[in-house]
Amino acid sequence: MKKHVFYLSIYFLASTLYSSAQDTKMKTFIDALMAKMTLEEKIGQLNLVTPGFGIPTGSVVSTDVEKKIKEGNVGGLFGVIGVEKIKKAQEIAVKESRLKIPLIFGLDVVHGYKTIFPTPLGISSSWDTALIRRSAAAAAKEATSDGLNWAFSPMVDIARDPRWGRVVEGSGEDPFLGSQIASSMVKGYQGASLADKYTLIACVKHFAAYGAAEGGRDYNSVDMSKIKMYNEYLPPYKAALDAGAASIMSSFNDFDGVPASANKWLLTDLLRKEWGFKGLVVSDYTSINEMVSHRMGDLKQVSAMALRAGLDMDMVGEGYLTTLKQSLNEKTVSLQQLNNACRNVLEAKYKLGLFDDPFRYIDEQRAAANVLSTEAKSVAREVATKSFVLLKNNSQVLPLKKTARIALVGPLANDKSNMLGTWAVAGEPQMSIPVFSGMQGLISDKSLIRYAKGANITDDTTLAKRANVFGMRVEIDKRSPNEMIAEALTISNNADIIVAVVGEASEMTGEAASRADITLPSAQQLLLQSLYATRKPVVVVVMSGRPLVLTNIVDGAAAVMQVWHAGIEAGNAIADVLYGDVNPSGKLSMSFPYSVGQIPVYYSQKNTGRPQNPDNKFSSKYLDIPNEPLFPFGYGLSYTNFSYSNFKLSSNVLAKGSSITASVTLSNTGKFDGEEVVQFYTQDLVRSITPPEKELKGFQKVFLKAGDSKEIVFKISEETLKFWNATLKYVAEPGKFDAMIGGNSQDVLKAGFDFK
Ligand code: BGC
Repeated sequence: MKKHVFYLSIYFLASTLYSSAQDTKMKTFIDALMAKMTLEEKIGQLNLVTPGFGIPTGSVVSTDVEKKIKEGNVGGLFGVIGVEKIKKAQEIAVKESRLKIPLIFGLDVVHGYKTIFPTPLGISSSWDTALIRRSAAAAAKEATSDGLNWAFSPMVDIARDPRWGRVVEGSGEDPFLGSQIASSMVKGYQGASLADKYTLIACVKHFAAYGAAEGGRDYNSVDMSKIKMYNEYLPPYKAALDAGAASIMSSFNDFDGVPASANKWLLTDLLRKEWGFKGLVVSDYTSINEMVSHRMGDLKQVSAMALRAGLDMDMVGEGYLTTLKQSLNEKTVSLQQLNNACRNVLEAKYKLGLFDDPFRYIDEQRAAANVLSTEAKSVAREVATKSFVLLKNNSQVLPLKKTARIALVGPLANDKSNMLGTWAVAGEPQMSIPVFSGMQGLISDKSLIRYAKGANITDDTTLAKRANVFGMRVEIDKRSPNEMIAEALTISNNADIIVAVVGEASEMTGEAASRADITLPSAQQLLLQSLYATRKPVVVVVMSGRPLVLTNIVDGAAAVMQVWHAGIEAGNAIADVLYGDVNPSGKLSMSFPYSVGQIPVYYSQKNTGRPQNPDNKFSSKYLDIPNEPLFPFGYGLSYTNFSYSNFKLSSNVLAKGSSITASVTLSNTGKFDGEEVVQFYTQDLVRSITPPEKELKGFQKVFLKAGDSKEIVFKISEETLKFWNATLKYVAEPGKFDAMIGGNSQDVLKAGFDFK
């Protein structure tokens, strides 16, 4: 045995022994505690409540919270923001309840705590897993410094329908990219040990397949084959759990006719038995109660169903609190089922170290030092610059010259209220940097930039009202649309270039924010058409949570850059990239449709029996639009040019048990240093079930100085070719394959090989 292999084996043996000794210690502690607990106290641990200091996402906000804590009727709180409030609640639990069991404190730390990063779909466009892990670690440091120890993140639902507002919360359409990001986020949040006071428990959500809601309408039914689910929807949840995620949240939707929160196949057979998950399962906000509306029975029946299915903790609805005792008496649930759930809650607290010190995360000095720190803000600025995707850049109109006279136009050009994006529960919009001041910050002669609003985000008062539920996001100007456009045109007269910042308000995406029409609101389209008519170059900066249909605005623009909702440092980061201090390197993690009529449109669609052929009427295509999206998955430009050449396979035969490589020479042929996301796909030419057109199997984000070249290598082994077959076995089938490398899912170099 080689020396390092020997040491590695000793290390693994030692750490396995150590962790099993820890498990025994935890079990002994919890056995002793549970022996003292009454039935009511056990049920109490399953109750997760919110006093409503955050943003309630359902109709119920918990009442009498203080009294319930004292009576041992609460296992944890969520939505409480600020170390003082958390301290007060923990004091009640450990001083005034009979068994003094500490509370766990959760929050939707979805893209940062108070230092808000770009929205997750934006972050995923960076394809930079190390940076994503760093951003999650920074969020954990800040959140734990303010008393929290449980983050309802990452959201890993594969999403292929941009009408669904919650596409903003995930990592887009692809299981491979989604899995890499899910794993990085969990590692960032949980660090090396949960007992570390800078790490918290990650909660993977929403289990499962919530992203496939029919018609893109939130909370809607989901129905899909298990083959599709295993191959395309489950991988990111599994990856997050493999990375150690200690909790998971059930989803609102039904699956195979049973709501996820009471779906025994999902929560027990798959999650616990097949995957071996040992952590905590929490419901979504009142998702147990909502099973009454799903028509699964009354509250007592659905609560019993949920417990029997393996759901441990009831978020907000109090179905468990109010009915489980009776169900135990009626024997529709067993004591064993209650004990299992209670143990899972207590174990989460134990792993966090709360039984050693309930105040471990509660320290006003840490809060003062780490909340909104310069360090966290600099991560936010860096992540934001890496999340932007340059979609068009005619004649190198970008980067802007710092001496250019700029007309800065658009409803989002000088806005603070929308920069944070949706799900910034603890964020304060007024602390964010607008684009106008970010740009001024980078030039010496501030008078070079003149600003005009030009249009409202929308003139539709109903839509505006719906977007304003959590505060003013869409402000409808007193001036008429024509007056606003006239002002924009006046400042454009004296400008060399027009920068138009347009898009969605932050709450036009997110939960319960599905939209049927995902084009730019007409008020903004009108503004852009008027700006295009000036014949000056127009740089369009698009802020949105979701892929919008940009088809009718791209042609008139000189450049288009997608910047999502970029977080607290939005304006600074956008200025960094517009002025070329940072070269954009983001790539789309979700296809941008050509038309809503194509949805779902994603790169890995199947070939069909009648692949599209323009000369054959009876082929799979639309009469009126192309099949292809406007911008495909993996697409994104840079200020420099990257070229791909010299694609080769180390062998055109891959034998079982061995590996070959696919390689390419990547060259930076432009004038700027820059980063490129090199993507590796495979295509299975014959498979026992119809395969996707192609599948992402690897990527590398590579920095190259202008003029440099580098060989980029991907390994191909049997593992690379595996998929879930018709009997749900994970296999690689011998046969012919193509390997592909390129800068997006459509433009690739390819070569074939045989797997024998
Ligand atoms: C959302 C979850 C969230 C929970 C708590 C629900 O409405 O679906 O993603 O974690 O509320 O805020």
